[in-house]
Amino acid sequence: MRKKVIAGNWKMNKTLEDSLKLATEVVTIANDEVNNNVQIVMCVPFTSLYAVSNIVKGTKVALGAQNCYSKPSGAYTGEISAEMLKSVGVQYVILGHSERREYFGESNALLADKVNIVLATGMTPIFCCGETLAQREKGIHIDFINAQLTDSLFHLAPADFQKIIIAYEPIWAIGTGVTATTAQAQEMHEKIRNHIASKYGTEVAETIVIQYGGSMKPDNAKELLSCKDVDGGLIGGASLKARDFIDVIKGA
Ligand code: 13P
Repeated sequence: MRKKVIAGNWKMNKTLEDSLKLATEVVTIANDEVNNNVQIVMCVPFTSLYAVSNIVKGTKVALGAQNCYSKPSGAYTGEISAEMLKSVGVQYVILGHSERREYFGESNALLADKVNIVLATGMTPIFCCGETLAQREKGIHIDFINAQLTDSLFHLAPADFQKIIIAYEPIWAIGTGVTATTAQAQEMHEKIRNHIASKYGTEVAETIVIQYGGSMKPDNAKELLSCKDVDGGLIGGASLKARDFIDVIKGA
């Protein structure tokens, strides 16, 4: 049985003060209302990581970051290393979000390096993949996503691959209020699992957590999370309000 993992991606939102307030609310409500069958993660801005780590310590909520650099240390002004993240209590790192691919030119090859360094540092990568609407309309979305996985992940040994979480985030569903239908989500998640099985075998593929992301909200979470191959969610907008985030989690 795969444990469901629901991660909030705050993106570039929340000052330190706002982060403390939101994190405290989430931890408090999660403690009262969420059972242990779900792993909750909050991926907060770099500037809030250390403070939030003190709030989530010993609770049901784990700490995540939204990116890190591909090199271990050195003259890379403005970048943050995996080791630095680990040192403030980070357990999960989002890699390859479509916003980073689009606005910061992150390639599959760069992401392979980032995956390596996050794993080597002992944290869990949440590796994002997803197609544009144009790619889906052309019918090339499955090949496109398979290539994202192959190019950034398939160099890994099976034992390392099994530590990864994959987030399927169709770009046309992110921040748009348009969600993939359950049929679309289930189809893509099954294709992703089949692609993993073609490289690592069915047994490994069955252990991999594949999250859905893209306008997941309290009113659609339960339906999406009931799909056989949907093992959690990566939540943007709805993770910015404690009540909404918890209600998404309760859909699991
Ligand atoms: P929304 O939930 O706001 O659509 O964002 C999804 C996302 O990009 C999470 O990483």
